[in-house]
Amino acid sequence: MMDKDTAQKLAQSLTADSADIIPFLPYLLQDLWELGSSGSEMADLLRRHVSITPGFTALDLGCGKGAVSVALASRLGIRCKGIDIMEDFIRTAKQKAAEYGVSHLCEFVAGNIINAVGSEQGYDLVIYGAVGGVLGTRAEILRALKSAVRPGGYILLDDAYRPDDTEPPLSGEYLTFEEWRALIEQAGLSLIALSDAPERPDDDARDFECIRRRAQELTAAYPQHRDLFERYVKSQRDEYDDLAEKIVGAVFLLKKPE
Ligand SMILES: C[S@@+](CC[C@H](N)C(=O)[O-])C[C@H]1O[C@@H](n2cnc3c(N)ncnc32)[C@H](O)[C@@H]1O
Repeated sequence: MMDKDTAQKLAQSLTADSADIIPFLPYLLQDLWELGSSGSEMADLLRRHVSITPGFTALDLGCGKGAVSVALASRLGIRCKGIDIMEDFIRTAKQKAAEYGVSHLCEFVAGNIINAVGSEQGYDLVIYGAVGGVLGTRAEILRALKSAVRPGGYILLDDAYRPDDTEPPLSGEYLTFEEWRALIEQAGLSLIALSDAPERPDDDARDFECIRRRAQELTAAYPQHRDLFERYVKSQRDEYDDLAEKIVGAVFLLKKPE
């Protein structure tokens, strides 16, 4: 049984305004594998900037259905441990690892990363892919990720920043790039690279359309929850609009000092 705060943060991490949506998330998101981050984008960043030695290990916090871990294992031979609180997502992650022939490199476990992050240590890489505020404020998140990485290790953080001249967007609290830079420095980390991957409006639009269709099916099955499903679809649309117009999705590659 999940406590109220964890449930609220889980809902927020998947762009929902209410924890009541949680039992319906597996149905709503059944057509998507990547739930936030792009595995190929992260693999490309690592390939360009990091020397991947045999036995290189990664911890994927809030791994969802394992899209990033499976990409890093199959493309770069990285040994990944993924943790996610949604058992249904973990089941899919294991199936995907088998499908891609990387079960021997991927371990997926159901668990709460708020508890796990204190005991998981010594990784070459820690991934926090579009998980939002589950581990606290941005400063707390950086501190927690740093504690799980070995000296000289790396962090891949998928978040966003807002251009200096935009008003704070409605559906999230975003930092400017300069604010990120200052926070990264305060955390004692170095910014090695920032993903310059192109926007993917077609993929985003397709994902949104899948979710909208599934929400319609749920509304037909559970008309008493119509408002819940409509609000969920609206939150998704607001986030896609923000990403298209107001904020810049970004993957930060950070390094912990030796
Ligand atoms: C937007 S999804 C991103 C998933 C994955 N990183 C990806 O990019 O495909 C956020 C994930 O965080 C997970 N999550 C939220 N709160 C969590 C918690 N306390 N412990 C573990 N996972 C959590 C959700 O279940 C969800 O899979």
